[in-house]
Amino acid sequence: MVTDALMNVFRKDPTVKRHLVKTLSWRVVGSIDTMLLGWLITGHLGIGAKIGGMELLTKMLLYFFHERMWHRIKFGLPTKYAKAQQVKKDNAANLFASKSKVGRLERELLNGNKAFTIWLTGLSASGKSTIATELDGWFYEQGMRAYVLDGDNTRMGINSDLTFSAEDRSENIRRVAEMCKLLNESGTIVIASFISPFEADRAKAKQIIGAGSFIEVFADASIAACKARDAKGLYALAESGKIKDFTGVDSPYERPVTADVHLRTDVDGVRACVGMVVAVLCERGMVAGLLRE
Ligand code: ADX
Repeated sequence: MVTDALMNVFRKDPTVKRHLVKTLSWRVVGSIDTMLLGWLITGHLGIGAKIGGMELLTKMLLYFFHERMWHRIKFGLPTKYAKAQQVKKDNAANLFASKSKVGRLERELLNGNKAFTIWLTGLSASGKSTIATELDGWFYEQGMRAYVLDGDNTRMGINSDLTFSAEDRSENIRRVAEMCKLLNESGTIVIASFISPFEADRAKAKQIIGAGSFIEVFADASIAACKARDAKGLYALAESGKIKDFTGVDSPYERPVTADVHLRTDVDGVRACVGMVVAVLCERGMVAGLLRE
């Protein structure tokens, strides 16, 4: 019974096992030391053994709970980001980029389209995915090679190890931006559909992809409209406290101030929104001369 309960605790949180073993090993070392000191000072082995024995029990308890408490405190620990930066620095000296024989321009010519990234940002249920899907269809009809990267999908695959903490959302966006860059280099248009709630992360994505290849589209719908839609039922779960760190409920969304296209997805229909994006692409020469009748 007790072993079953203990096994359950270990399964849920393996660090408990580590702290128990650490407690035991440190206490045995520490109490042998105390026993020897007690013997040395009093000249009685029995007294030394008593002090050592008492200490073994009391300090073991104190040590274990002290260790569990510190396990919850992040103070002084390097963040995931700091660790990643260190690994990047350590690896840099031993990495050598290989150059391709075929450049981005040749690939774009082969595909018959310029390659760039349309970055859709907005609250959950603001209509990003619907617009992304429609745009994807439009590019296909035009004979252009495009591909949609969507938050829900990438979080089921390459980013399945990430939570919705601010730090993990940044990592989510960084990885996605690196994917957009690679796809763009292969001559493929990317439609990236991510909440991407933080201005700094969107700026970083723009920097990774390249300002000239990055079109930021703000799918702007009021939080009330998104909650009313709530097709996935996530706002309801977030409001009842069943989901933590939900954007617009208990996690912030920083509205873009310099978006290339500002769509009012709670006012305009999908066709109108897609039309506005396409108009900006034409205006900027991203799809000029390539439009099919
Ligand atoms: S982002 O903030 O890191 O850019 P991302 O676009 O990848 O988010 O994923 C958002 C999707 O994850 C939402 O459309 C929703 O379906 C799902 N989701 C699950 N939990 C959360 C949460 N806590 N906050 C926001 N979206 C969530």
